[in-house]
Amino acid sequence: SSTAHKPRGSFILFEGGDRCGKTTQSENLVKHLSSKGVDVALWKFPDRQTAIGQMINAYLQGKTETDDAAVHLLFSANRWEKRESMLAALSAGQTLVVDRYAYSGAAFTAAKGIPGLDLEWCKAPDKGLPAPDATIYLSMMPEAAAKRGGYGSERYEKEEMQRSVAQRFQDLRDATWHTLDAARSIEAVGSDVTRIAEAAIEACQEGKPLEHLWL
Ligand code: TYD
Repeated sequence: SSTAHKPRGSFILFEGGDRCGKTTQSENLVKHLSSKGVDVALWKFPDRQTAIGQMINAYLQGKTETDDAAVHLLFSANRWEKRESMLAALSAGQTLVVDRYAYSGAAFTAAKGIPGLDLEWCKAPDKGLPAPDATIYLSMMPEAAAKRGGYGSERYEKEEMQRSVAQRFQDLRDATWHTLDAARSIEAVGSDVTRIAEAAIEACQEGKPLEHLWL
């Protein structure tokens, strides 16, 4: 009927180090859910299209040197500027599969080990953002990830940095967190991903409220 209220979409997040298979798994999940008739979209952070995203892109490619605290706040602002459209999509019933978010933000900056920029400082600017319903952490030893055709040439794609990032991710685990062994086959990881995503979507259909990060 015209008064029937469509349940909200679910916020399903992928996190992990570089070359862990996030992109493949997030794309496969979106294809799978669409084929089942789920209204779903794939989002990615950083969103390099916006003005802030272009500054981040230049930094990641080594074209600009930016103060570490300033660049951290740009990554966070790049999420805040998408907040309204994210909330609108979720409340319109669209499920969002998101490739990286605030956990990457905190883990990557804290991994630099800069005095003052500890994990609490790194989390602060993202407090209050929409929280994921499920976070799928694709876990992989940096040595194994590096063997997958090698890291790219962007700023953080070095084994030592990746090891430090993995440790920070461990400190960020919360109730939304599911760790998957990403060294397995695409299919094996994918079937775990599907199960986690379908459970998250069902919980939202049953009225699970959207939460907010780190308050
Ligand atoms: P991304 O575009 O996801 O790169 P890839 O597809 O190669 O994984 O992310 C680019 C880099 O930015 C990646 O090394 C992780 C880092 N990053 C941050 O440092 N802070 C953030 O808030 C986010 C979202 C990513």
